[in-house]
Amino acid sequence: CGIVAYVGHREACPLIIKGLKRLEYRGYDSSGVALLNGSGLVIHKKKGKVSDLETELSAKDTHATTGMGHTRWATHGEPNDTNAHPHYSNDRKLAIIHNGIIENYATLKQKLQQKGHVFISDTDSEVLIHFIEDVRQETGNSLEEAVRLALQEVVGAYAIVVMSDEHPRQLIAARKGSPLVIGIGEDEFFFASDATPIIEYTKDVVYLDDYAIAVVKDNELNILNLDNVPQAPYIQKLELELDAIEKGGYEHFMLKEIFEQPRSIADSMRGRVRADEAHLQLGGLRNYLDKLADSKRIVIIGCGTSWHAGLVAEYLFEELARINVEVEYASEFRYRNPIIKENDIVIAISQSGETADTLAAIELAKSKGAIIFGVCNVVGSSIARATHAGAYTHAGPEIGVASTKAFTAQVTVLAIMALAAAQRKGTISEELYRQLLIELENIPDKVEEVLQSAAKIKEIAFIFTYARNFIYLGRGLNFPVALEGALKLKEISYIHAEGYPAAEMKHGPIALIDEDMPVVFLATKDSSYDKIVSNIQEVKARKGRVIAIVTAGDTLIPTMVDFVIEIPKTHEMLMPLLSVIPLQLLSYYVAVMRGRNVDQPRNLAKSVTVE
Ligand code: G6P
Repeated sequence: CGIVAYVGHREACPLIIKGLKRLEYRGYDSSGVALLNGSGLVIHKKKGKVSDLETELSAKDTHATTGMGHTRWATHGEPNDTNAHPHYSNDRKLAIIHNGIIENYATLKQKLQQKGHVFISDTDSEVLIHFIEDVRQETGNSLEEAVRLALQEVVGAYAIVVMSDEHPRQLIAARKGSPLVIGIGEDEFFFASDATPIIEYTKDVVYLDDYAIAVVKDNELNILNLDNVPQAPYIQKLELELDAIEKGGYEHFMLKEIFEQPRSIADSMRGRVRADEAHLQLGGLRNYLDKLADSKRIVIIGCGTSWHAGLVAEYLFEELARINVEVEYASEFRYRNPIIKENDIVIAISQSGETADTLAAIELAKSKGAIIFGVCNVVGSSIARATHAGAYTHAGPEIGVASTKAFTAQVTVLAIMALAAAQRKGTISEELYRQLLIELENIPDKVEEVLQSAAKIKEIAFIFTYARNFIYLGRGLNFPVALEGALKLKEISYIHAEGYPAAEMKHGPIALIDEDMPVVFLATKDSSYDKIVSNIQEVKARKGRVIAIVTAGDTLIPTMVDFVIEIPKTHEMLMPLLSVIPLQLLSYYVAVMRGRNVDQPRNLAKSVTVE
């Protein structure tokens, strides 16, 4: 879910709506605003997108200089007008917006009901504001003190903002496990789930820590922790620029982000790779490289696309640095008492740096004594802060819900890490090391070349718009790419797709193949080329329709398959950086032709801050 709140001298409502639109990647099944004006604390909310709320508000008096808004990704209670945020307290004098989950809400709700509280929605968030109201009434304390005492009783994760109609110039916010940024302007303050709603107003921000409460009252910001100890705000300068979060002429953010990859990959290497000097450096891991090289085992954790980047890294670390690697879904790792030994390294991969399961897995690994590295895209994010060291991906803000440029940036950074470890360990020849550095530097230009096939890929997509299923097959480093290609298609076009290791196909998926089944083969010239040729034959023998991603100049595969997409030659170890690009484009164009909402597919959220 996404949060925006404002107190100052501007019109709050348009500012909040604009901010919510930027946060829609975090969830978009309903939205709402609370505004403080002459008639008290007024809430408007609506199922659907922020634009639906905006239409509803256009006929209303929304004049206010204090307000807050929320865009929701449902956890408790279906998406509808009632369950949308903000929520009122029982006396309707307080309102809350909440991101996260209150785990003990049922017990609290029962107690409050016994005291006569009436709940309108099915949400845990409404319970929280009623609970705050109750604590306030019981103790006679100020609102900020009531928020603090109530939060001491709360089990779960949250970022909240609370407003009261008794204090028109006041906002109270708190966080535990869900991000919250405070923007500090001239006589005005902003709260938001990330910095994008704030950037055109101020560059001065404070990232609120877990267990902290921020109180803005009469133009003053005070931060305290749950034990009532004041905290000095650490004000940072935002580096984000407005054009980085706008579409810049592209029809969708996803397309813009796919086309940005030559630059985002280059940015992820900037200052880190110097092929002419055969030199690599990773500032954030400087003091940890020996530990990485000496480690007996690396455990990589992540979710979704980040987990796929982890699978690519498994090949890289094992092949180049000869370190044993296990890749785990963060959600599985955290619930099965994992074995962590001394000298084990955990690498957590996360675009947003906020994924709840990944964060919890980090905390668990930490408690078992692991050294944890982060590979995150969002600077200052919770995961970036929770890890011992790390390397940012520098892909720039990724807004399309389906991850594209973050994936290639992750693979780039992980390749640099694997190469650095291999060199330190002496498991890589000088020649291969040099060759891979040169190849890495050439990747952005080669990605540019792949992007030139966009028109051709669009034509192929058009032909397959009808499909109800897709199979993606690859071997070796192209196997995780097959998984990623299938995920992309599922996410945005809602076509069922499966990624499989090409050889494993004969143990099941081959039964699905008939003349209607599109099969995407990652069939680049690498060590498993001959094997993949045989797998293509197995599919063609059953009349499957094959789209093959091949290395430019391949003369054999084009004679066997229905459609060919060529990509430039590179070293096998870096192939995923090129082979994934046509799959991103294919899924994009299929989704567009099916009329899907590419940037905001149904039921998904970009940043999953609940488990
Ligand atoms: C969500 C997003 C995916 C992403 C995954 C992990 O499911 O929709 O695109 O890969 O979360 O997110 P993270 O921010 O941790 O990489």
